[in-house]
Amino acid sequence: MKAINQQIADLRFFPPKEKQSTKQHETTPTRVRVISWIVFAFGIALALIICFAASMASAAPCRLTNAQQEIWVARSINDLVRTARATYQSEDSRKRYERVIDGITRTIKLCELGTVTSDRTFANRYPEFLEYVRLLSMSLQADRELGFEVSDGTYFTETSQYTTIPDFLLAPGFLRSVSRFESLPKAKALLREINAGRAESDRLIFFSYKSRHLGTPDNPNSFRRLLIVVPGNKAQHVPEKWVQFGIPDPRSPASVRNTSVVAVLPGPDRTTNVYFKDYYRTYRRNGSIMIKGRWELGEGDDSCVECHKSGVLPIFPVKGSVSPDEQPMVEAVNQRFVSYGPARFGKYLDLNKFGPGLGSARPGDSGGHKLKTAPCISCHHAKGLGALNWPMDSTLISSFVEGGRMPLGAELRPPERTQLYRQLIDDYFAIDDARPGILKAWLLGRLR
Ligand code: HEC
Ligand code: HEC
Repeated sequence: MKAINQQIADLRFFPPKEKQSTKQHETTPTRVRVISWIVFAFGIALALIICFAASMASAAPCRLTNAQQEIWVARSINDLVRTARATYQSEDSRKRYERVIDGITRTIKLCELGTVTSDRTFANRYPEFLEYVRLLSMSLQADRELGFEVSDGTYFTETSQYTTIPDFLLAPGFLRSVSRFESLPKAKALLREINAGRAESDRLIFFSYKSRHLGTPDNPNSFRRLLIVVPGNKAQHVPEKWVQFGIPDPRSPASVRNTSVVAVLPGPDRTTNVYFKDYYRTYRRNGSIMIKGRWELGEGDDSCVECHKSGVLPIFPVKGSVSPDEQPMVEAVNQRFVSYGPARFGKYLDLNKFGPGLGSARPGDSGGHKLKTAPCISCHHAKGLGALNWPMDSTLISSFVEGGRMPLGAELRPPERTQLYRQLIDDYFAIDDARPGILKAWLLGRLR
């Protein structure tokens, strides 16, 4: 064991010379031949592996000089941003991305890069990077699929008071009618009956539509929804609830289980606290339907915030999927969404720690975009609709930009929209050293 420790203590790495040379560098007792950057990088990797092995044996921390840290962090940020971009574009890359985060997290721990001992420590130089990696790696833990600062179990225990489905939506008659396409009109009739007994301000707003974005977690091919907005009561601290049932396709009873809730409660300083929960229906043989938390049923969960940066999301349905008499309801719920203050996620997550979003200025940008449109961040920022930062969902963002809804109020032709979208993504994820994109520049601490 001692021998290994001695080896680590003796390991030396040489940053490459300004002018690349093939000169040999010597050190005792280990001879290291530095030929190129590649060998150098390989050396660091090897050192980390050896450190890791050694620390398993003796808990000896690895030591990287400041120069080595600089090279390691530059490479790590490139790997992180490159694999994040690949994962944004295709889920196939997720494994590789997660391995990168795991690797970075291990090195931070092993080399004690998060420890503040003096002014110039790594932790003081790269606070954004350290915090970002901490948050990303947290969401890789099996008990933190929601991506919050607490375990999924704790989150649901503490927030279920806000996200329960109102009793009248759980009545067996309603559940049965909402669970078949053919009986959806009956479900709506029941909702109208409930509304008849309610004061105007307390009435449910509801409509059915087809999502242009995604299927349900239990059935990726299921796009029909019934959305019911149940007004809250600020004085009594009762949240407003957006309850959304997945509706089976025609002639496919019991093919969708999901029902989701987003609960909205006014917070301090005109902010809005938003809480999430998915439920699954279970169709019993005797025709009865049981409904329970998806997570409680052991069916996993998703990080809602990856898509729901603005808390509630506006409804931008498949064209023609809303009946004309219900169209005003789509307008009404979107109006309601826009009237909420900036979204916060209670004490469970601070989206600011994920950095600036799409459409922020990229360092070195001379004159903004070629297309004269309002930059996304003029509306999508922490005090507005929330920054669109990684992790985020490509289907949602491309749909809003290429589908023609964003930037709000802009008149663009389809090819211009495609160009704008590509530009936005490149400005965000680029890793050129000379002109880093938004994410890389921020992680390097250059946007302070
Ligand atoms: C992959 C992106 C994505 C994820 C992840 C996601 N949602 Fe959504 N959600 C959407 C989109 C997009 C809409 C808007 C309706 C539509 O276009 O389908 C939406 C709408 C909703 C609605 C209707 C109210 C509203 O905000 O418009 C609820 C309720 C909801 N989601 C709950 C959840 C919950 C709970 C989770 C996490 C367990 C979650 N969602 C995760 C994309 C997502
Ligand atoms: C002038 C203000 C404004 C600008 C500029 C703007 N948006 Fe939006 N955005 C909104 C509003 C308001 C909504 C919600 C209501 C709606 O859809 O009409 C929204 C909704 C969205 C949504 C869905 C909700 C969410 O937060 O995920 C996405 C995605 C989006 N915008 C992306 C963009 C992108 C990308 C740009 C820049 C190309 C952009 N927006 C520019 C105001 C704006």
